[in-house]
Amino acid sequence: MSGRVAAQGASLALYVHWPFCLSKCPYCDFNSHVRDRIDQDRWRRALLRDLDATADETPDRTVTSIFFGGGTPSLMEPATVAALIGRAGDRWTLDPDVEITLEANPTSVEAGRLADYRAAGVNRVSLGVQALDDASLRFLGREHSAADALAAVDLAHRLFDRFSFDLIYGRPGQTAPAWRAELERALARAGDHLSLYQLTIEPGTAFYRRAGLGETLTSDDDDAAALYELTQDRLSAAGLPAYEISNHARPGSECRHNLTYWRYQDYAGVGPGAHGRLTLDGRKWTTQRLRSPEAWLDGIESGGGEEARTPLDAADRLAEMVMMGLRVADGIPVKQLEEETGKPLDAWIDPARRRPLIEGGFLDADPNHLRVTAEGRQRLDAVIGHLLA
Ligand SMILES: C[S@@+](CC[C@H](N)C(=O)[O-])C[C@H]1O[C@@H](n2cnc3c(N)ncnc32)[C@H](O)[C@@H]1O
Ligand code: SF4
Repeated sequence: MSGRVAAQGASLALYVHWPFCLSKCPYCDFNSHVRDRIDQDRWRRALLRDLDATADETPDRTVTSIFFGGGTPSLMEPATVAALIGRAGDRWTLDPDVEITLEANPTSVEAGRLADYRAAGVNRVSLGVQALDDASLRFLGREHSAADALAAVDLAHRLFDRFSFDLIYGRPGQTAPAWRAELERALARAGDHLSLYQLTIEPGTAFYRRAGLGETLTSDDDDAAALYELTQDRLSAAGLPAYEISNHARPGSECRHNLTYWRYQDYAGVGPGAHGRLTLDGRKWTTQRLRSPEAWLDGIESGGGEEARTPLDAADRLAEMVMMGLRVADGIPVKQLEEETGKPLDAWIDPARRRPLIEGGFLDADPNHLRVTAEGRQRLDAVIGHLLA
């Protein structure tokens, strides 16, 4: 990997979006699309150009993480990943401990590329396993089998010091004993990080349409709450407590890139639909690239590609910090919140508004952190709604 390695400049996390998948999963509302043919060379040039435009605006930063997300970034040519990592190293300082993650799907074709990604500079992979039995994988519309998933996990284990995989629970009819057994199998194969998502039905997806026609596609609310609690208990006992609602790690093995979002630090987003949050000339902005792959590609090639750029006033920053920061177990340092928003916490959120949440056991009483309890995390939307009302 090329690049100047020195500890200088404010930190920056870099997100690169690859918007293509082999097929569209029925639950997924990410910016992901199926195309017969992808001109990899054209995409490589455009992503590099987008990265360059971002670097022009953010010189002198130290990049602490790069995350290739999607879509299915394991459909990117390894040469494209290598070129982007190399260019990031040319344009910014790379932290000596830079974390470079790639999301991979566990079909055999993609797993076969894991070694090439490692050679390209990737040092962490996150595999979209989703379930460990074939019937559930079919229900979720996945292209891989349970055997493919386990083989990919084992390969990731051999190739990378740091790897994670995702599972989706709360599937219809999924019982606590069945999920417990699946978790045991997952833990037997896990490294130091697991992402465990409760299935949600998102507008615009095939599941949303089917649910609208009356089909049951998730477990009911009581069962889902029991599965969530079971997940927390079992993962804590295994030494991988939740550091965020759906993310579990051995302490020290958290995904640094994702922590950047939740801790309200700067990140740049490159590729279709990618979001960024950047401090430029002392002001905080959100940036968003054009969402449609083709519109973004044309836009980049003609010197554009950005959909919107919005300054964030103090109230916006407060709302974003609360919505992001309460997801993590550590919560939000009050000092950071006050520096970021320019006003004391009490001026934003009256202590009288916080008190019932503290007395109800939803919010921690620590005066130095705004933090939810385990109970509060289960009802996070309601807690946030109350705090920001
Ligand atoms: C950006 S997706 C993609 C990663 C990769 N393309 C894959 O599917 O394997 C990240 C993760 O979000 C989770 N996810 C996506 N939609 C979800 C939904 N509606 N409910 C629960 N989890 C979801 C899946 O576990 C998925 O692996
Ligand atoms: S879940 Fe992953 S593979 Fe499936 S459509 Fe979404 S991004 Fe693509």
